[in-house]
Amino acid sequence: MTANLSGENTLKGKSIILGISGGIAAYKVPELVRKLRKAEAEVQVIMTKNAQEFIAPLTFQTVSNNPVITEMFAPVMTSEVAHVSLADKADLVVVAPATANVIAKFAVGLADDFLSTTVLANKAPILLAPAMNVNMYTNPATQENLEVLKKRGFYCVGPGKGELACGWEGKGRMSEVEEIFRSIKTILVPKDLKGKKFLITAGPTQEPLDPIRFITNRSSGKMGYALAEAAQIRGAEVTLVTGPTQLPLPRGVKVISVDTAGQMYDATIKHYQSMDTVIMAAAVADYRPAEFSPKKIKKEKNNLTIALVKTPDILAAMGKKKGTVFLVGFAAETEDLLANAQQKLQTKNVDLIVANDVTQPGAGFETNTNIVTLLCRNGKSEKLPQMSKELLAHKILDKVIALQSEARRQKTEARRSRN
Ligand code: C5P
Repeated sequence: MTANLSGENTLKGKSIILGISGGIAAYKVPELVRKLRKAEAEVQVIMTKNAQEFIAPLTFQTVSNNPVITEMFAPVMTSEVAHVSLADKADLVVVAPATANVIAKFAVGLADDFLSTTVLANKAPILLAPAMNVNMYTNPATQENLEVLKKRGFYCVGPGKGELACGWEGKGRMSEVEEIFRSIKTILVPKDLKGKKFLITAGPTQEPLDPIRFITNRSSGKMGYALAEAAQIRGAEVTLVTGPTQLPLPRGVKVISVDTAGQMYDATIKHYQSMDTVIMAAAVADYRPAEFSPKKIKKEKNNLTIALVKTPDILAAMGKKKGTVFLVGFAAETEDLLANAQQKLQTKNVDLIVANDVTQPGAGFETNTNIVTLLCRNGKSEKLPQMSKELLAHKILDKVIALQSEARRQKTEARRSRN
């Protein structure tokens, strides 16, 4: 079955209880609520008494579009909330910031306010974003409490290092909202690629001419990194072979950094056989200087001719080996998009081509969005509207899963009809 999910859709309709305890980091949390709402999740905020010393419940009521629960027996809840067992309907409970105090309460199973009661009664996954003074965090009491909770299956994001509100430096800062948001998605995403091995190439390659200069392609690496991240959060074991980019490396992914097409070829071919799926999103330079000058080439002549030689076509080489590996290639074209992509599909012997006309606004190299057509071996194609590279990454993975299960189904039918 295809999950047909996306980074955004993962959270659509999900019910998230957001517990806020008394730490200064509470001021960052409205932004988390805003992001969750934007992703179409339902957010029910519960604030402890101490949390309300840092930020007003009204702020959360406004951003969550829901009444905030502040007291165990207060009549602030709407009749709807009052009659629904919150703990029962939640898909996820997030506690951010999680202070040393609430962590301790959860560890011993105390239920003396609405948040601790909900956590104790709850069956859904729980994510903690601890935030506290470094000494409180490193104190064995807190460390042991966190250990106990992790053993019980609680998820934890952070804390990070940095300047703390108390003036100390060190570990204890609540993770940034973006990181907490990513952890939430990771927990809620169906793990439909669990046990699968993916190799993804990304970014440009650089072909050196002398110690100062190189030939390269325009590429930010965003598409390949989005694919690596999407496959990882869906449970795949991901190897990312990346050319030089400015992007932060995706979490939980094995990264092999390369510079040249030759190095990318070696790294990819080395791991090829052990993979289930290989996605070549890299913008590999097609030519490299025939000679590398160990010294800087001086600007003495008016004209300079540089001899170029072809780099290895990695995708075509893998297509020759093929075997059972599912191969995905990209085609960035400026003309005759579909005809060129179709030809690539055949000559390079790949299963799926992601074709994009890089002349369109909102498609191609340095943008955050892309506009592509997916071309399959069976001749079918699907034109997708403009969307974020993150969302597109999930759509491509959905397609890979759908085509693989279709191929398995056909194989089984063929075997049946032979017998
Ligand atoms: O033929 P073209 O370079 O347009 O094909 C694009 C596809 O082939 C992309 O998936 C790209 O990563 C891959 N490629 C490659 N090795 C090259 C050039 C392109 O693997 N030398």
